[in-house]
Amino acid sequence: MNVPKIIIAIDGYASTGKSSFAKMIAAKYGFLYLDSGAIYRAVTLFALEKGFISDNGEIDHNSLKEALGELKVTFRREASTQKSETYIGERSVEKEIRQLEVSNYVSPIAVIPFVRDFVDNLLHKFGEDGAIVMDGRDIGTVVFPNAQLKIFMTADAEIRARRREKELLAKGEDVKFEDILKNVLERDYIDSHRETAPLKKADDAILLDNSYMTMEQQMEWFDAIIRERFGYES
Ligand code: DC
Repeated sequence: MNVPKIIIAIDGYASTGKSSFAKMIAAKYGFLYLDSGAIYRAVTLFALEKGFISDNGEIDHNSLKEALGELKVTFRREASTQKSETYIGERSVEKEIRQLEVSNYVSPIAVIPFVRDFVDNLLHKFGEDGAIVMDGRDIGTVVFPNAQLKIFMTADAEIRARRREKELLAKGEDVKFEDILKNVLERDYIDSHRETAPLKKADDAILLDNSYMTMEQQMEWFDAIIRERFGYES
């Protein structure tokens, strides 16, 4: 099967399973997968490590802006697992960027216009050739408004927090359900209410509420769409 040279934009609320879904689509159809949230997370980790975020959560915008020029974020496939990992320079930061500390600061970092420009430029470079599936908050509305297929994902907040809890516990993190739910709701609020590129469904996006769907059912849903719209068989 030829890889369809289309751009698929998957946006939606925190912890709706966007990246798992996008990865499955990428693997099944041969698309390149790009995780835009991972880049925002890498910028956040970078800011934390450089000391640009104070203990009371204040962000030193000027220092961050100046230092961003030296930040090199890439994705590499890990040989043993074949999984894509996020790198800062030569260092894999895949694990660190998923920790709750980064999750707690990522939304305030992602509201900063120069950070959004930095990430958008990177995504455009990565996405030049098409045949990509990207997930995020503003891919279908701002980054790739001409994407041929847009999906907007949502699910009940408690169900999302439970899924996230399971994921973090499996990774050995010591987390409480209440903290996760709080983080999910806070991120939804900030992401949807920010001035620059707020999270919202593009008019031409297809809504997917996966509260009570298995991954398998989601893939069947997707297969039907891509067959009907583009004539592609998996
Ligand atoms: O998808 P995620 O939870 O890893 O994303 C982390 C944060 O990054 C999310 O809370 C908001 C921000 N983000 C964004 O503002 N725009 C995107 N396209 C992707 C993520």
